[in-house]
Amino acid sequence: MSELAIIENAALVIENGIITFFGKMQDLPSNDFNEIDCTDKVVMPGFVDSHTHLLFAGSREEEFAMRSRGFTYQQIAEQGGGILSTVALTRAASKKELKKNARRYIHKMIQKGTTTVEIKSGYGLSFDDEIKMLEAIKELQKEEIITILSTFLGAHAFPPEYKNTPEQYVDLICSKMIPYVGEHKLAEFCDVFCEKNYFSLSDSEKILSTGINYGLKPKIHAEELSNSGGAILAGKLKATSADHLEHISDEGIASMKEGGVVAVLLPGVSFFLNHNYAPARKLIDNEVPVAIATDFNPGSCMSYSMPLMLTIACTQMKMSPEEAITAATINAAAALNLSSEIGSIDIGKKGDMLILNIPNYKFLVYHFGENHVYKVIKNGTYLEF
Ligand code: NIG
Ligand code: FE
Repeated sequence: MSELAIIENAALVIENGIITFFGKMQDLPSNDFNEIDCTDKVVMPGFVDSHTHLLFAGSREEEFAMRSRGFTYQQIAEQGGGILSTVALTRAASKKELKKNARRYIHKMIQKGTTTVEIKSGYGLSFDDEIKMLEAIKELQKEEIITILSTFLGAHAFPPEYKNTPEQYVDLICSKMIPYVGEHKLAEFCDVFCEKNYFSLSDSEKILSTGINYGLKPKIHAEELSNSGGAILAGKLKATSADHLEHISDEGIASMKEGGVVAVLLPGVSFFLNHNYAPARKLIDNEVPVAIATDFNPGSCMSYSMPLMLTIACTQMKMSPEEAITAATINAAAALNLSSEIGSIDIGKKGDMLILNIPNYKFLVYHFGENHVYKVIKNGTYLEF
């Protein structure tokens, strides 16, 4: 993760959306191309944001204000705020309204350099509202230029109507929602919030295993607020990724390594909620591949800026600039099973590139709070915004 291959005075060719040459300028095979002058700039792969909840209605700035007065994320959730307040607003919104909100965020994300994004359901929590969310994501996949991956997160929280019969909600997820999502190919992944007061380890195993049977690859929100054993489960199920991991145990780290699970760390959440940071150094030193994502959502991280996440990763989790860049590109692609197509500059990969107005790559994390993106190129197409 700590080695970046840097080429000075470089040239890169994209044909029909695919990278066909990269190397020294003087080795360029021909000059017969539409040229973009990148003198004094940095060119790198587009960011892959592998964990977001960007489809939602409303916002929760009142909770932010409460936290600054000393209330915790869990206390706010126990008082009926948190995820369930966004659920009420998302249920009341039409698919069209949800898409309109999401589009605004997607366009802002692209401006910050994100060229691939994962979006989760999980603010519907009823059959109809979860399907509404996933259909909205599917439509955005077709309509937007950015690559979008869809994750079914029906197990994000227990909806109010199942408060006293949570096992019946797990049953609804496994017997109705997952089969429908799988058969209609509405998602690539299945995710669960494995946490005290949310879904237990055995609920999580049941839901993710059912997902696997219907072709949905497992992901898991694990060890965010406490250690619940979700990382061990991720290793056992060979999940694509386990995300958060602020309270991961040594056993969890060993299991993830064994199962080939990508650790998706979300430094913006720890920053925004003033919680513990995930042990990035320990994960890297134990050879678990580490990715960084925003977790963009109205409760625990109201930011879609990948560069900001990288700076927080360097200052608070002691990752190096090189590791942070690897975590936001090729490792993030691996967290979406896409590392053979995107995430690095390689012949045959997609021409998803950023041109940054900085003198060297370290400025990306060093000069923070600034948008250094000069141009975004998606599939070889120059994006105007
Ligand atoms: O990843 N942990 C669960 N879900 C989100 C928070 C969602 C919300 O607060 O609306 C997360 O942090
Ligand atoms: Fe999340």
